[in-house]
Amino acid sequence: MLNILVTGANGQLGNEMRLRSATSRHNWLFTDVAELDITDPQAVNRCVAANRIDVIVNCAAYTNVDRAEEDEAAADRINHLAPSHLAAAARTAGATLIHVSTDYVFPGDAHRPYDEQQPTAPLGAYGRTKLAGERAVEQSGCSSLIFRTAWLYSPFGNNFVKTMLRLTAERDTLNVVFDQVGTPTYAGDLAEAICNIVETERYKGREGIYHFSNEGVCSWYDFAVEIARLAGHTGCDIRPCHSSEFPSKTQRPAYSVLDKTKVKEAFGLRIPHWRESLANCIAKLQ
Ligand SMILES: NC(=O)c1ccc[n+]([C@@H]2O[C@H](COP(=O)([O-])OP(=O)(O)OC[C@H]3O[C@@H](n4cnc5c(N)ncnc54)[C@H](OP(=O)(O)O)[C@@H]3O)[C@@H](O)[C@H]2O)c1
Repeated sequence: MLNILVTGANGQLGNEMRLRSATSRHNWLFTDVAELDITDPQAVNRCVAANRIDVIVNCAAYTNVDRAEEDEAAADRINHLAPSHLAAAARTAGATLIHVSTDYVFPGDAHRPYDEQQPTAPLGAYGRTKLAGERAVEQSGCSSLIFRTAWLYSPFGNNFVKTMLRLTAERDTLNVVFDQVGTPTYAGDLAEAICNIVETERYKGREGIYHFSNEGVCSWYDFAVEIARLAGHTGCDIRPCHSSEFPSKTQRPAYSVLDKTKVKEAFGLRIPHWRESLANCIAKLQ
């Protein structure tokens, strides 16, 4: 029986981890900042040692991309320094750290899906701090798996799907960018994959970086159109627009499709298409 620590358990991925691990034969300890502040190295060490933790799944992060531009130090504490504390505690305990990262480590100027070997070059503060977190985990010498994901949504917290459900119900017209292309990821699918890998102990001997999103490719515009269609919000005219219509301090990758060949081969996963998973999530929300 394994003892598994989940950090950031009140977020989108953390909540899905709670649901997906409900039938597990292992011991799961779910924490968020109130129970375990991962920026406190002593608290992290104490928690890992006292609970004889075998696997840490780090779902905690500073995910507000725009706010990270204004306070990079705060983002760095959670996305970079805190994973280094978790990695150090994992190394001391002989535990494995499963860490989650992002497509924002890439510059977004590619024209074919990013695999794990491609050079990183984040465009902004969030991506820089997440990349620093990846490197700290890799350099710590602990056993680690890093899952880079993208465009995460779920019935929990705030995300694009929930915003579009609201706006397409309220408005007659809505402009959504079509010059940023990627793949949405239902947090439940990523949680399912991580739980399965932990449950079956297939993380052993498979350290490294893996890309995970749903299958397929779309722009935010295509994503919004499908959200409205599934919700039956036919009264809103959704129009494609350029990112320049939404001036922002934060530069976002224009293209961030992830190549998932490695994760599928390593763990024998079947990953659903984004449309299939979106339909599942919207059915749950309704
Ligand atoms: N959301 C996306 O679109 C997206 C895309 C690509 C990758 N990712 C990555 O996927 C992972 C999961 O993202 P998510 O969307 O599930 O994130 P989320 O919903 O923002 O959840 C993160 C959780 O971590 C908690 N947290 C913050 N600081 C903490 C601390 N010091 N100690 C312990 N917990 C703390 C947060 O609490 P508060 O809410 O109180 O701060 C929140 O409950 C993250 O690594 C993220 O970088 C996300």
